[in-house]
Amino acid sequence: MESNVLTSTNSNGNLRNYDEVCDSFEWSQAEKAFSWAETGLVNMAHEAIDRHADSDKGNKVALYYSDQHRKEEYTFKDMRDYSNKAGNVLKDSGVTKGDRVFIFMPRSPELYFLLLGTIKLGGIAGPLFEAFMEGAVKDRLEDSGAKVLVTTPELLGRVPVDELPELEKLVIVGDDVKEDEKTINFHRQFEQASSTLDIEWVDREDGMILHYTSGSTGKPKGVLHVHNAMIQHYQTAKWVLDLKDDDVYWCTADPGWVTGTSYGIFAPWLAGVSNVIRGGRFSPEDWYQTLENYKVTVWYSAPTAFRMLMGYGDKALAKYDLSSLRHVLSVGEPLNPEVIRWGMQALNLRIHDTWWMTETGAQVICNYPSMEIKPGSMGKPVPGTEAAIVDDEGNVLPPNSMGNLAIKKGWPSMMRAIWNRPEKFESYFLAGDWYVSGDSAYMDEEGYFWFQGRVDDVIMTSGERVGPFEVESKLVEHPAVAEAGVIGTPDPVRGEIIKAFIALRDGYEYSEELEEEIRNFVKRGLSAHAAPKDIEFKDSLPKTRSGKIMRRVLKAWELDLPTGDLSTMEK
Ligand code: PRX
Repeated sequence: MESNVLTSTNSNGNLRNYDEVCDSFEWSQAEKAFSWAETGLVNMAHEAIDRHADSDKGNKVALYYSDQHRKEEYTFKDMRDYSNKAGNVLKDSGVTKGDRVFIFMPRSPELYFLLLGTIKLGGIAGPLFEAFMEGAVKDRLEDSGAKVLVTTPELLGRVPVDELPELEKLVIVGDDVKEDEKTINFHRQFEQASSTLDIEWVDREDGMILHYTSGSTGKPKGVLHVHNAMIQHYQTAKWVLDLKDDDVYWCTADPGWVTGTSYGIFAPWLAGVSNVIRGGRFSPEDWYQTLENYKVTVWYSAPTAFRMLMGYGDKALAKYDLSSLRHVLSVGEPLNPEVIRWGMQALNLRIHDTWWMTETGAQVICNYPSMEIKPGSMGKPVPGTEAAIVDDEGNVLPPNSMGNLAIKKGWPSMMRAIWNRPEKFESYFLAGDWYVSGDSAYMDEEGYFWFQGRVDDVIMTSGERVGPFEVESKLVEHPAVAEAGVIGTPDPVRGEIIKAFIALRDGYEYSEELEEEIRNFVKRGLSAHAAPKDIEFKDSLPKTRSGKIMRRVLKAWELDLPTGDLSTMEK
């Protein structure tokens, strides 16, 4: 094991002596940076943008935006003014404190103005990934009781407006938008809007952002984060992202996922650094070009992306000058030692794994620039947070025992609610104090944590979390499908891919066309990333006597493993 350790070459990291900081650090020390230290009130958008706009950083580039059609730069002053303007458009649409404003559009500067504008009004922003289809969009807008939806003319067709009685206004970002009582032409109003706005000063415990995520049962759940999360975003931007004033930072995640807000918006801007946002889809050449063009110094991405780059070969890489890069991080899935080795050889840098989840709001277990890395390990808890391995009763287990990865309640960016479902929220906590992540892991004698797998059936495909229940529910809506069971199966690039086992209704027979039709049915109903890549047809599926599909048995079939205890199986 020891021979595999990668020593740090960065003694200049912001977190220099991990053990010492762990012993002495309290979160209250980080709070001094923010307005509530003086006024008792705060607003994330002020701290991330306006605070810098009003300082000597006002003319510094806050956002480098590019996609295939646009290439733009915005200073902190621009971001202040444009998010004020966007805020005014939303204010005119009736948005007030606590209202849910959903933003369903591809990455673009306007998305960022509108998200910040929502937060400036004290609203709760709900970013939705652009690939969502009608069913997924409806579930989220309905559950959250969204009052305003921001979208584009292209995506509007996927919004069942008539079925959403609480939705009062549509703010459409695009050309030739026809306005009516419900519909607002963003560009027209934005042009006319004032660039000053009275920020809504809120309590640090007030709601700020709602991210929907999947579990193994039930519909996606709305994970609510509050302004207080900024303490952890700010502190981990220093310690984990290692951001310093002159850094150019790029997080590749879309704001539809938590990484794209916590670390694509809040952390870098709280730290006052220049933030690169690249629109459009993944392409290896494009990504290398982006790193080169902007002279990116700190880069945060995901194992699937690194594996795709790795698979694309080093010849492509050799065409680009990536010498500005100094710190690379990864999140979302296990980071294979093989990928770390590729990083060492291709980029001459260590890739730093970080572990956290939608519910934790910010990084929790990480590898720090100044620390030794054990490839395959997620690292050690962020100072100020306490992580442990606990058994199912909440007892802390000794080193090297497999168990539930748990975090002591009370870290600043912890979710504050599951929207409308208090009992679901409570179900995350064991023995009162431990938040149980749903991941199994162990901790070694030196305090490094090692990921082992999910305890539940949640699937991680290309770093995106997919709930099998949601896919199964959609599958059985198809007229040919009698029963469906969905599992994740290992994939060398995407981590896992989605596999569905299907039993057809009487009168239907397997054909390639039917298989494709069923796959497209899920694509159209939920999203492309939720559609099963692989479908296997069976006469019937293994079920418990109460009729629940036994995914465990499907997984055992798939992986050629023993099926375990089948005593509850229907015969
Ligand atoms: O299983 C863990 C996996 O992703 C889950 C959380 O997914 P999500 O809420 O979508 O957030 C993803 C990004 C913040 C976790 O329960 N996961 C996340 N990071 C890692 C990981 N698995 C292994 N190693 C990681 N570094």
